[in-house]
Amino acid sequence: MKSTAETSVVPEQRTDTGVGPSRPGPRPRRSHGALPRGLGHVPESPMYEGRFGRMFRRLPALVLSEAEIAELAQRMVERNPGDAGLDNPDIPAGYTYLGQFIDHDLTHDPTPLQLRRNDPDALTNFRSPFFDLDSVYGRGPGDQPYLYDDDNPGRFLVQRRDGLLDLQRNAQETAIVADPRNDENIFVSHLQLTLQLFHNTVMDRLPQLRESGSGPDEDDFTAAQRIVRWHYQWVVVHDFLRRIVGEQTFQDALRSTSPTGRGGPVERPDLRFYHWRNNPFMPVEFSAGAYRFGHSLVRGRYKLNTTVPPLPIFTPEPISESDPLSHFGGFRALPPNWQIEWRRFFPLDGNGSGPQLSRAIDPFLVPPLTELPEEAAPGVGALARRNLTRGVSLGLPSGQAVARAMGVEPLADSQLESPRRGAAPLWYYVLREAEVLGGGRHLGPVGGRIVAEVFLGLLAADPASYLSRDPGWRPTLEGSGDGEFTMSDLIRFTGFGLAEA
Ligand code: HEM
Repeated sequence: MKSTAETSVVPEQRTDTGVGPSRPGPRPRRSHGALPRGLGHVPESPMYEGRFGRMFRRLPALVLSEAEIAELAQRMVERNPGDAGLDNPDIPAGYTYLGQFIDHDLTHDPTPLQLRRNDPDALTNFRSPFFDLDSVYGRGPGDQPYLYDDDNPGRFLVQRRDGLLDLQRNAQETAIVADPRNDENIFVSHLQLTLQLFHNTVMDRLPQLRESGSGPDEDDFTAAQRIVRWHYQWVVVHDFLRRIVGEQTFQDALRSTSPTGRGGPVERPDLRFYHWRNNPFMPVEFSAGAYRFGHSLVRGRYKLNTTVPPLPIFTPEPISESDPLSHFGGFRALPPNWQIEWRRFFPLDGNGSGPQLSRAIDPFLVPPLTELPEEAAPGVGALARRNLTRGVSLGLPSGQAVARAMGVEPLADSQLESPRRGAAPLWYYVLREAEVLGGGRHLGPVGGRIVAEVFLGLLAADPASYLSRDPGWRPTLEGSGDGEFTMSDLIRFTGFGLAEA
C-alpha cells in the first residue's frame, strides 16, 4: 500500500499566498517559491488526473525523517563556490535563468489569490501548462490592457528611464507584468523584458514577415504572437532542452522521421513514461524532482556588465532592507548602469571571452541558496532542505525506484552517498546521476528522460504549438543558419542588451 502525503513524517508547508506580515518597504511579492495551486494536493489514486499528477503512479513513496533530510541538506552546500573547475562548460549562465523563466511559463496560475483560497485543490478551473508565454502575454491586450502600449497597439509597454530599459513599474516599483515571479532577480526580469521586446520587434517587422508566408489570415497581434511563441518553443526544445538533457537522450526522445511528401524531416516525440488521458498534467516527479536540477546551475556571483562589479545573486538580509547595490535580487527598479550585457550570459560573441558559465549539475548548491531572503522565497531559508522536504511531502518515489521503472540500472549506494541504502530522494538522485554519468555537464538517463518527456509531451499536447500544428516547421526569423534559432539569435533579433553598459 502506498504511503500518502499525510503519513509522511514531514508536514506539508504551503507557501502559496506570498503574503507576509506588514512592514515598511517593499512588500513580499509572489515569488518563484510560491506553490502553484494544487501542488499541495496530489491525490494518490492511479485514476486521478488534474493540474498535477504522477508519472510513476504505482511506485511507493520514499519517506525520510526530518533528521535525515537535515543531514543530507547540510551536505549539499557547495564548499568551494569560487572553484572555476566546477563550472559547466556546456551551459552558459543565461540558461539557468532561461530555465527559471520556462518554469514560470509552465506553472503560471493567473487565478486571483481570493479564488485560490476558495478552490485550493485545483480540481476545477484546470488550466493546461503549455509553452505559450502566458507569463508574458497574460490574458492579452483586451483583458489586461495595462500590459500593453496604447500608442503602439499590440506592443508591450516597457519603461525607458535615464537611458535604461526596464519592466514598467508602479509608484512602489512593483513590476506591471503578467507574472510577478519574473521580477524575482535581475536576470529573469531582463529575460521577461527581452521576450516583450522580441514580440514588439516582430510586430514592427510583421509586413515583411507576413510576406515570407506566415499566417495571412491572422490579425496582426495573433500573427506576431504565433511567430514569437513558435520561435520561443524552438529555443526551448532545440537550444535549452538539448543542452540540459544531453544529445543522446534528446535524440531518443525526439525522433526525426523522414519526410512524407514535404521538404524536411518531421519531429515526433517518443513518450514512454509520460501519459495522460484527457488533459496533460504537471508531473510531480518533474516539478518537485527532476526539473529542480536548475538550482544546482546557480552561481554564487555574477558579472552583469562592464561597469557593475561582480555581486552575489542574493544576500540573506530581506531585499527591502539590504543595500540594493549589493546583490542581484529583484522586485525593484533597475539601478542606474544596471542594464544587462547579454554576451556575458549567452554565447553571442564569436571572438569575445565568452559568457560566464553555470555551475556543474551536481548535488551542491551555492551558499546564497542556503539562506534565501524572505521576499524571494517566503519562509524557505535553505533551498536544499525545502526541496527534499517537498519531495517527501508529495510522496515522490526514490530515484532508484524510478530508474528501475524506466529499465535503467540504478546508481550504486557507493556512488550516491544517500542517507538510505538503496533509496535516494529523486531530486538528489537526479543531481548525483548528472555528476556521475553526465560529468556535471548534462542530466543523466533518469533526470534527462523525465525532463525531456515532460517538455515534449506538453508541447505535443498544446494544439497551438508548432509541434502539433506543423511538425515539419522550421524557424523563419534569421538565425544562426541552417534552420536553427537559438536564444542568442532571439536576443540579436531584438537588438537589446548587446551594447556595453
Ligand atoms: C536564483 C534562482 C532560484 C531560486 C532562488 C529558486 C528558488 C525556489 C524556491 C524557493 C522554490 C520553492 C520550493 C518549495 O517551496 O517547494 C522553487 C521551486 C522550483 N524551482 Fe526554483 N529557484 C531558482 C532557480 C530555478 C531554476 C534555474 C530552475 C530550473 C531550471 C528552477 C526550478 C524550480 C522548480 C521546477 C520548482 C518547483 C515549483 C514550481 O514549479 O515553480 N528554479 N525554487
